[in-house]
Amino acid sequence: MEPLLLFYGIAAAVSVYAFWFHLLARQLTGPKVWPIVGSLPFLFVNRWRIHDWIASNLRSTGGACTYQTCTICLPFLARKQGFYTVTCHPKNIEHILRTRFDNYPKGPHWQAAFHDLLGQGIFNSDGETWLIQRKTAALEFTTRTLRQAMARWVNRTIKNRLWCILDKAVKENRAVDLQDLLLRLTFDNICGLTFGKDPETLSPELPENPFAMAFDIATERTLYRLLYPGFLWRLEKFLGIGAERRLKQCLEIVEKYMNDAVEARKGDPSDDLLSRFMKKRDVSGNLFATPVLQRIALNFVLAGRDTSSVALSWFFWLVMNHPEVEQKIVGEISRVLGETRGNDRQKWLEEPLDFDEADRLVYLKAALAETLRLYPSVPEDFKYVVQDDVLPDGTFVPAGSTVTYSIYSVGRMKTIWGEDCMEFRPERWLTPEGDKFEAPKDGYKFVAFNGGPRTCLGKDLAYLQMKSVASAVLLRYRLSLAAGHRVEQKMSLTLFMKKGLRVHMHPRALP
Ligand code: HEM
Repeated sequence: MEPLLLFYGIAAAVSVYAFWFHLLARQLTGPKVWPIVGSLPFLFVNRWRIHDWIASNLRSTGGACTYQTCTICLPFLARKQGFYTVTCHPKNIEHILRTRFDNYPKGPHWQAAFHDLLGQGIFNSDGETWLIQRKTAALEFTTRTLRQAMARWVNRTIKNRLWCILDKAVKENRAVDLQDLLLRLTFDNICGLTFGKDPETLSPELPENPFAMAFDIATERTLYRLLYPGFLWRLEKFLGIGAERRLKQCLEIVEKYMNDAVEARKGDPSDDLLSRFMKKRDVSGNLFATPVLQRIALNFVLAGRDTSSVALSWFFWLVMNHPEVEQKIVGEISRVLGETRGNDRQKWLEEPLDFDEADRLVYLKAALAETLRLYPSVPEDFKYVVQDDVLPDGTFVPAGSTVTYSIYSVGRMKTIWGEDCMEFRPERWLTPEGDKFEAPKDGYKFVAFNGGPRTCLGKDLAYLQMKSVASAVLLRYRLSLAAGHRVEQKMSLTLFMKKGLRVHMHPRALP
């Protein structure tokens, strides 16, 4: 081709692209976008504070609480894979999670990424497949026996292991990583509740458990898949190299462990979730096959493992920094125990709270909800747009694009929670008399447990578990941050503390 012709050709293509990009950028309302890479440079620069960055973007929309951005500014892709509508507007969230639920599934990218780990389990399916599991599971989650089973697993772990570990740390005047202990505790609990086997990862020696490790790595490697274009991880998987190779090895360990758990339960059914699902039948009236049962169980383990421990870590940190709240929590627990166990302090300490005692802790529940408002365990969630739609605030969302609803940002908007939204104030969750817990009238102002048909099934169990652990720790110990330890957020789909929560425990003198 003539060089001059080539030059004009390129110049024409660049001009057409520049015009097209100008039209696209004009429609976008979020951070500045660049040709081709869109808002990725800003995302990269803010990667260490992604949730706060999203919240500040949403704040700068005035009261709109919604913006649109693009990460692949190329024709045909810009309106689909690369297009993100980010919102924390309660009406929009209600629309996505409830009103037009069918238009906003998890979607093909999410499902493809998680398929090897979670199969078509409740956490990773849409439509009929999800609905059948949801109905079956919802029946079980409302039973009192499941709550009693949770109380049993939690209390056993607290009494036999957590207290011993903490007492030893007090004696040796040694700091502990409370987040690590809590992650181990909730992992043991969810395994107990799901398939009746406690792997005892919370033990004085803090052992490495092959199943827990393999499951951790498999979850992390699966999340990597969401960060890169789909063809990259598929190619790695096909060639059996890189992160995909490790993922495959870990999946084999997880599968073997789950297979053993299912076989063990077959011979000895109990009151765990797996035993309950073994008695159920699928749509064709058949009992679930072993691989299906494995996946069902694994989905519950993933759903219920880290969320409560992460919430508890933020709770303890907030309480440490708010002595007036700590005093009220300890006061409430003491009052309830005074009524149920009398005035002998020894009796208060020898057993963790039972089910009914935990139920009476209204202020503690408010403090936990307040923690989740400011530090939701799942800070951002994503949905796929099936058909073009218009959100209640008038934002047009194109089919094939992604809607991100920022649970982290909802709790941090003055327009939603008032001028004092950044303050940790459990009182906002209580009735004016202060004796009852009161969730906000607009349920979509607080979506830490999601909302609509896909609301978290484990919410009540999680509150029960968190109350038991919080009171078991606070009644015995005061906490103080280890010297030099800085609490930071880890950028992941779960709001971990990046370097854990290193604290010293001090015996508490009860009132
Ligand atoms: C503080 C603790 C917890 C928080 C903040 C929490 C939060 C959430 C959120 C945000 C979702 C929606 C996730 C999504 O669809 O993308 C969810 C779903 C779910 N959660 Fe929880 N969760 C907690 C504890 C638990 C526990 C302890 C269990 C089980 C014992 C559990 C079981 C489930 C299940 C089964 C789903 C899937 C529901 C469905 O898709 O239909 N959660 N949870």
